[in-house]
Amino acid sequence: MEFREGLTFDDVLLVPKYSDITSRSQVDLGTRLSRNISINMPLISANMDTVTESAMAVTMAREGGIGIIHRFLTMQEQVDEVLKVKRSGSVVIENPYTISPEQTVHDAAAYAEDKGVSGLLVAGPDSKLVGILTERDMEFEEDTSRPVRDLMTKDVVTAGPDIGPGEARRLMHKNRIEKLPLVDGSGTIRGLITSKDITDLENYPGASKDSKGRPLVGAAVGVKDDFMERTDMLLGAGADVIVVDIAHGHSENALSAVRHIKKGFPSCELIAGNVATARGAEDLIKAGVDAVKTGVGSGSICITRVVTGSGVPQLTAVMDCAKVGRDNDIPVISDGGTRTSGDATKALAAGASSVMVGSMLGGTDESPGSVLTKNGKRFKVYRGMASLGASLGRRSKSPGFSMDDDLNDYVAEGVEAMVPYKGSVNDILKQLTGGIRSGLSYCGAHTIPQMQKNAEFIKMSGAGFAESQPHVFS
Ligand code: XMP
Repeated sequence: MEFREGLTFDDVLLVPKYSDITSRSQVDLGTRLSRNISINMPLISANMDTVTESAMAVTMAREGGIGIIHRFLTMQEQVDEVLKVKRSGSVVIENPYTISPEQTVHDAAAYAEDKGVSGLLVAGPDSKLVGILTERDMEFEEDTSRPVRDLMTKDVVTAGPDIGPGEARRLMHKNRIEKLPLVDGSGTIRGLITSKDITDLENYPGASKDSKGRPLVGAAVGVKDDFMERTDMLLGAGADVIVVDIAHGHSENALSAVRHIKKGFPSCELIAGNVATARGAEDLIKAGVDAVKTGVGSGSICITRVVTGSGVPQLTAVMDCAKVGRDNDIPVISDGGTRTSGDATKALAAGASSVMVGSMLGGTDESPGSVLTKNGKRFKVYRGMASLGASLGRRSKSPGFSMDDDLNDYVAEGVEAMVPYKGSVNDILKQLTGGIRSGLSYCGAHTIPQMQKNAEFIKMSGAGFAESQPHVFS
């Protein structure tokens, strides 16, 4: 048997090239996520339960990337997370949450909290607007059994459904209001504009958006049980892309799921993975995917290579898959093992159109889970989706689960870690994108496709790697 050499990020460097770039702002990080979707920065937050729910996905989209809501939620919970993202940055919220005037303040507060909104429109029969109830209206009310009609603002400033952002902004300022319900001639609710969404529009000009101006968001599904119904519901909620998420993506289970989804929902933009070989990428593309997710055992919390002996070093995996991707005009995503902006730049230079990131984004305000304190230091949990903890969490929610279940029946392929609490993910994204911009400039490239053409890798020795690290004290 002939042995091929497999390389990863730390085995290589990008050879610096002449650059005419005088400022990082001249570098364009726009790229293709999938066959028909483009994003403005090449980063995707991983579909993991300690990385991406709505808060992370909103931030990723604002910054020009995209987040993939993980699938370890009930169908309705996952749909709600997609809806939260879609509502967060759309200038017009098409179906605003409403409450009836007869319901109690207690119900209203619970509903608003569940949906993550700060106010509700009050709707009478036939969805006619009768009032608006905001957090401020409810704030110090001691008797929460009172009906909404007693506390709501009845005299509501409204606008017609076709009002533009500029006019809405003026109207809200003139009336000093934060929410502007849109109603038609008969008073029926047709939408809602909030001041926050207008501000977001101005503050995040590079946000990735769908055709209605709402933030892009993806959602993951599995390959068994409810995956078709889940896909249907997620697409119905507005998910822009579905990710078939399975550890061994070059398997009949994954290929058959891809075929089923593409047959049932022909216009669904579909990413699938993970694979690590040209043949894996080719088979997924033949099955109909719109992007291939690449990476087996490269993730920071993965023990797949230790437990199964299987995997391909990430740089080689990306290069092999990207060649097939190029031949078929299908983008490839590098998933796992990105620890620095340098790694991300190398993955892009190797042919990936974008990079999925887990650990770098875990431990932030926007990642799910609470901040824990140990010995005066703050942490958050970041765990592999095939770790024992993640699996137990999932199994404990399924019917028939017993604490007496034999843990030896489960072979974990991931571990759990406490990562230092890092604050807002915005700062991390700034560092990452700043580093990638500089990386492109070192390659003499203004764009990612240009870098992919220009890139020249050089393999380094152990001494070269040591020299590449800070070594002032060694
Ligand atoms: P990073 O290195 O960014 O990797 O933390 C994130 C990616 O790791 C994959 N992942 C796993 N791989 N066992 C694995 O072998 C696991 O339990 C596991 N959980 C996540 C996944 O591709 C993710 O995007």
